[in-house]
Amino acid sequence: MANPLNQEFIHPLKLFEVAKNEKRLLHTSAPMLAFRQTVHHYGTDLCWTPMVLAKEFNRNKFARDSDFTISTAGPQPPTIVQFGANVPQELARASSLVVPFASGVDLNCGCPQSWACSSTLGAALMEKRELVRDMVLETRSQLHQDGWDVSGLEKDINSPKGRSVSIKIRVHKDLRKTIDFITTLLAPCSLTTTRPIDFLTIHPRTRQTPSSTPINVESLSILTSTFGTQVPILLSGDVFTLDSLPFTSPFHNTLSSSSSPPEHNIPHLSGLMSARALLANPTLFSGRNSCPWEAVEYFLNKTIKAPMPFKLVLHHINEMCSPGMGPSQKDKVALLNKQERAELMKVGDMVELIDFLEEKKPGGIGRM
Ligand SMILES: Cc1cc2nc3c(=O)[nH]c(=O)nc-3n(C[C@H](O)[C@H](O)[C@H](O)COP(=O)(O)O)c2cc1C
Repeated sequence: MANPLNQEFIHPLKLFEVAKNEKRLLHTSAPMLAFRQTVHHYGTDLCWTPMVLAKEFNRNKFARDSDFTISTAGPQPPTIVQFGANVPQELARASSLVVPFASGVDLNCGCPQSWACSSTLGAALMEKRELVRDMVLETRSQLHQDGWDVSGLEKDINSPKGRSVSIKIRVHKDLRKTIDFITTLLAPCSLTTTRPIDFLTIHPRTRQTPSSTPINVESLSILTSTFGTQVPILLSGDVFTLDSLPFTSPFHNTLSSSSSPPEHNIPHLSGLMSARALLANPTLFSGRNSCPWEAVEYFLNKTIKAPMPFKLVLHHINEMCSPGMGPSQKDKVALLNKQERAELMKVGDMVELIDFLEEKKPGGIGRM
């Protein structure tokens, strides 16, 4: 219950409120890899950790040490810890362990990987709506018992002890099942003064849809029209640049140069979550369509102060130096060409990496 980092934690619903007051969508980074400080510096409001397996986290000190790391040096970006779980007590226990260090917890109901689904984790939970509801309610109840403010009411959103409980989902082929699923998750119960989940992230693809297939904007439109006034909804999927979203919403205009304007207007969407495009361009939410050298330097600086495995650093640098994911030719500008990126991947340690980038960046990289 104490605040071990002596830092201020902001309730995620407060961030939704701030974005709404600024007449814009909330900008969030998907549960991915470890560069939360970098994306936050460039306009991402709220970050997710990668999925952490609750059962292992609860039982194994090594899992706890490796799966959830935060910077103790500076202010932390508002962070949601995402769990994979299928037992209410496991999710509640793991959440209880992490909330002193995070703004909220999230349950992954979208991971399509076969290892996860065969253990009734991730997208397999889309067939278990009662279990998901039980997990969420058990977690709220545990956090409440621990002394956290989880009612979702205004006073708790403004409290330093306010924390959120949320879920991230995919859609079913038959959208009526998704509507039933969300209805179950929003139905009030005696344990909660408001709804069981504070907000919801929708990845509008089914468990079987490959990520190369565009998101189903029609599903998103139906789900946000049905539920978007009851609960803040984030879109995850195909957020490639801020000016190329495949729909319009009151808070953003899409491609003015587009020959055919998007078919859908999504009035009740509260925010955007990006994964692949943010990996390639951590500055996406500051409005830039491709990654500048400055962001590579910023990331390097952070990794020197809070080291992470070198392979992971290299992976991030490679992504940032690759073409961006936006649709137009100018979005596809890459800091390094294909051959240079192949050379980059042969670099063996941090010193070699800095020398390599020093040589490639016009004017060299800044002092760190
Ligand atoms: C490297 C990487 C790791 C991911 N890990 C997770 C994860 O741990 N949990 C999760 O819910 N989604 C995860 N995703 C999926 C994204 O959250 C997102 O739903 C999907 O990539 C579609 O969004 P995009 O078009 O912005 O990439 C991951 C995606 C990528 C690229």
